[in-house]
Amino acid sequence: MVGDPGATPEIPDGVRDRSIGRRDWGIPLALRTINIVASQMTASKGARSTRPRWRVSARLYRWVTVAALVALAVIVVTGAAVRLTGSGLGCTDWPTCEEGQFFAELDNVHAMVEFLNRMFTGVVSLAVMLAVLGSLLRLPRRRDLTWLSLGLVAGVLAQIVWGGFTVWSKLRPEMVMGHYLISAVLLADAAVLVQRAATGGAPIGLAVPKKVLTMSRAMVALSVVVIVTGTVVTNTGPHAGDENAVRFSFDITSVARIHAIAVMVFAAVGIATLYLAYRSTPASVPAGATLRRRGGLLVVVVVAQAAIGYVQFFTGVPATLVGIHVFGSVLTLLAVMGVHLAMVERPPLEEPAPQPAAART
Ligand code: HEM
Repeated sequence: MVGDPGATPEIPDGVRDRSIGRRDWGIPLALRTINIVASQMTASKGARSTRPRWRVSARLYRWVTVAALVALAVIVVTGAAVRLTGSGLGCTDWPTCEEGQFFAELDNVHAMVEFLNRMFTGVVSLAVMLAVLGSLLRLPRRRDLTWLSLGLVAGVLAQIVWGGFTVWSKLRPEMVMGHYLISAVLLADAAVLVQRAATGGAPIGLAVPKKVLTMSRAMVALSVVVIVTGTVVTNTGPHAGDENAVRFSFDITSVARIHAIAVMVFAAVGIATLYLAYRSTPASVPAGATLRRRGGLLVVVVVAQAAIGYVQFFTGVPATLVGIHVFGSVLTLLAVMGVHLAMVERPPLEEPAPQPAAART
């Protein structure tokens, strides 16, 4: 790893601490094969190591971060399912479903949908906690990964509390809107974490000229405008999550038009950004190839998302299409982040240190 102050030096695999080896029988073989390795930090018999016993390889950690990202993306869709099936107040209390009753009634569909979404929060919580734990056990350890994964835990805690207040507020539109927007921030954090975990530490330079990076920042900012205006449309429209919930009093056609105009400006800046990036960075270099791959994906996602947006608007926002549009918004956000993050070059993922021939025996 290059120039990262948080890095922990790698331990050659051949260096064994026999005091740890004595208890090695307790570690299932499968765990070894997925690269969780028992820490063998000291060479001398009986020496006490202050470092954790378990280590996570850089490659395994990368998958841990991908799992956290996927969980965070899925919960946005399950959350939308709650809203779109009108199950927002399926459970009227929090954290229990009903006062004095933790589980939802099996025959109450709305309560079940809301309750299962809450349960999925458990999966997400586990995923982000594993991301933090993994960052602490990762070999080599990197401070940036720990901070980014702690950001995920903070965001999930914020969502749990916010979700509670959203139910207590009887789904006030600004609360529902905030709930989505916190998720968007969480997804952006997770995207940065995945990108960093897939590479080896501090940046080594820009893959594009500075003005292209500035354009890309403008593209990211405009994607935020698209997402925020989208949540305003949602919270003005009919899909509140409960038929009695208060709505924003805006004219739905006007807010949808503002949302669509924001999409057009965003798309124009996005295309200009990609054009400049492609022109400055040839496809023959790895950064250029990555930019083209991710840029192509961004174009496909935005075109599909905009098409769904128009169709759902002109067909009276059918719940299924709205659900797909919510999923599309997640994909758009991730695709934008993917392009933006590809503008900075980072060294490849740290490889395990080559074992000295003598240590292998
Ligand atoms: C890059 C393209 C687009 C993105 C990223 C995007 C994003 C979003 C987001 C984040 C929401 C709110 C979801 C929620 O709060 O659960 C939303 C809602 C909405 N969007 Fe878009 N959108 C895009 C394009 C469009 C276009 C072109 C239209 C056409 C008018 C459109 C129409 C709508 C409508 C009608 C809603 C409200 C649906 C509902 O009732 O919940 N979108 N969009």
